[in-house]
Amino acid sequence: MYRTHTCGELNTKHIGQTVTLSGWVQKIRDLGAVIFVDLRDRYGITQLSFNEDNKNLQDIARRLGREFVVQATGKVIERASKNKKISTGDIEILVSELKILNAAKTPPFTIEDDTDGGEELRMKYRYLDIRRNPVKNNLIFRSKVTQLVRNYLAGEGFIDVETPYLIKSTPEGARDFVVPSRMHPGHFYALPQSPQTFKQLLMVGGIDKYMQIVKCFRDEDLRADRQPEFTQIDCEMSFVEQEDILNTFEGLTKHLLKEIHGIEIKTFPRISYEEAMRKYGNDKPDIRFGMEFGDLSIIAKGKGFNVFDQQEAILGIAVPGAAGYTRKQIDKITEWVKRPQIGAKGMVYVKYNEDGSFKSSVDKFYSQEDLTKWVEITGAQRGDLILVLSGELHTTRTQLSALRMFMAEQLGLRKPDEFAPLWVIDFPLLEWDDETQRYHAMHHPFTAPKPEDAHLLDTKPEKVRANAYDLVLNGNEIGGGSIRIHDKKMQAKMLNLLGFSNEEAQKQFGFLMDAFEYGAPPHGGIAFGLDRLVAILGGQETIRDFIAFPKNNAGRDVMIEAPDTISQEQLDELHLSIINNHN
Ligand code: AMO
Repeated sequence: MYRTHTCGELNTKHIGQTVTLSGWVQKIRDLGAVIFVDLRDRYGITQLSFNEDNKNLQDIARRLGREFVVQATGKVIERASKNKKISTGDIEILVSELKILNAAKTPPFTIEDDTDGGEELRMKYRYLDIRRNPVKNNLIFRSKVTQLVRNYLAGEGFIDVETPYLIKSTPEGARDFVVPSRMHPGHFYALPQSPQTFKQLLMVGGIDKYMQIVKCFRDEDLRADRQPEFTQIDCEMSFVEQEDILNTFEGLTKHLLKEIHGIEIKTFPRISYEEAMRKYGNDKPDIRFGMEFGDLSIIAKGKGFNVFDQQEAILGIAVPGAAGYTRKQIDKITEWVKRPQIGAKGMVYVKYNEDGSFKSSVDKFYSQEDLTKWVEITGAQRGDLILVLSGELHTTRTQLSALRMFMAEQLGLRKPDEFAPLWVIDFPLLEWDDETQRYHAMHHPFTAPKPEDAHLLDTKPEKVRANAYDLVLNGNEIGGGSIRIHDKKMQAKMLNLLGFSNEEAQKQFGFLMDAFEYGAPPHGGIAFGLDRLVAILGGQETIRDFIAFPKNNAGRDVMIEAPDTISQEQLDELHLSIINNHN
């Protein structure tokens, strides 16, 4: 038997017992007469002690190095100097037998909560990084969330069904990862960007309530909240309207917040896409704080300030308690919005002082009376700092949204232990893409238009709203879904609008449209990004930290060195011999 107990469970109750522990050597302190070794496993750390009564054992202990794997047997005794910081801190093991199970090279970084290893190095040796508490605890946390999700959905009658990974393209707006077929020269599978079409086919198959915790693959630019392979909690239901879906998954989210953080939220606010864009310049607003946009476009024009006069939009936010910012602090913010990533041309500010007076960067053009109106529109209180950007409407919204988040971050308003979920609903069905000169599906091509807007499909497609919704938590889109089209003609029409000819539509999605002719029930669903959900519930935003073996920012796995070249033989077998093997 390798162990009778773990390194995290012994305490004064076990004093006098003989136990065996196995684990990794965290630390060795050789005090001459006595040697202490901290032994670590997944559950904690227990102190081993080797005294002068057994010189042989002391000799073995002196040969240990950090991260050696050892097995120790001995008696649990009370410690002379107790360590209140750890649960096993009252006891130690007086070792009578010690076996080295495996030696270890000195790790390239310290296996401590605060390590000296840089990101890339830790990714290369991810298995060592996983030994550290912060990473290990994130994986344990992920497992707990996954378990809660599964249990909840099973309790609601959802059936877990696996869908294939070797499929053909399911468009979700990214590029596909493709897999060449050996048996079918020149043909390729695509890895699913999501199981979207399969879950709809399961509805046609009568599986009523489907769920799957499933890997999805998207070849897109990476960010802190995006990985090329990530996990969805994917769900679909039949005979439901939008309201049913929102209620079911609000239920799931409430359950998670309650079980994990003890937080009870009665009902999640719902706002339309249009309102989200107007108030926050963003379809995934962080509503843990205010700073809603005020629209100064009408009142700030015609006062002699040329910059504003020519602009489509003039928008402002009231930053709470920031009227006291110095010129230097404000200049820093101006520099920040002018960086190419944000791209604002400049920024106007108004200090609404505690005594009710104003000091602005445009005092020359605006009277105190004018500025009083700005205060009303932005909802500023005395002591606030109003920041104003201007330009083309969509661009200005995006820039001010980024500034709003930046200021909230600076003021500590994005509290990781506070949770503010909301639904964003009534998304437009389509969006116009200037580059390709055609419409794109805002969600995906299977989303149904709102019945009351469907008559606009032929005349004003951009005005058609969809029965589509996103679940937003703390400024992150953690889930998205829609009510689907379940009628062949409507699906064909939609694909036409997206630029597919009838032949292309049939070739690409004939299997789905054909299925709609065999009694497809009305249906709809949603998918949560599990990695994002877990990260945010864990009070963080970088999903990499909650994935056991993530890819780096360039989409590489630096541990196994993927992607990699393959042999000429493999290329030939896959009928890819035309490709030069770049090295
Ligand atoms: P959508 O494309 O909105 O919808 O994806 C659902 C959720 O998945 C997460 N997500 C990601 N997480 C990490 N890395 C990525 N690259 C990534 N891309 C998306 C987000 C997102 O909200 N089939 C539809 C769902 C449906 O209609 O039911 C779909 O995939 O949290």
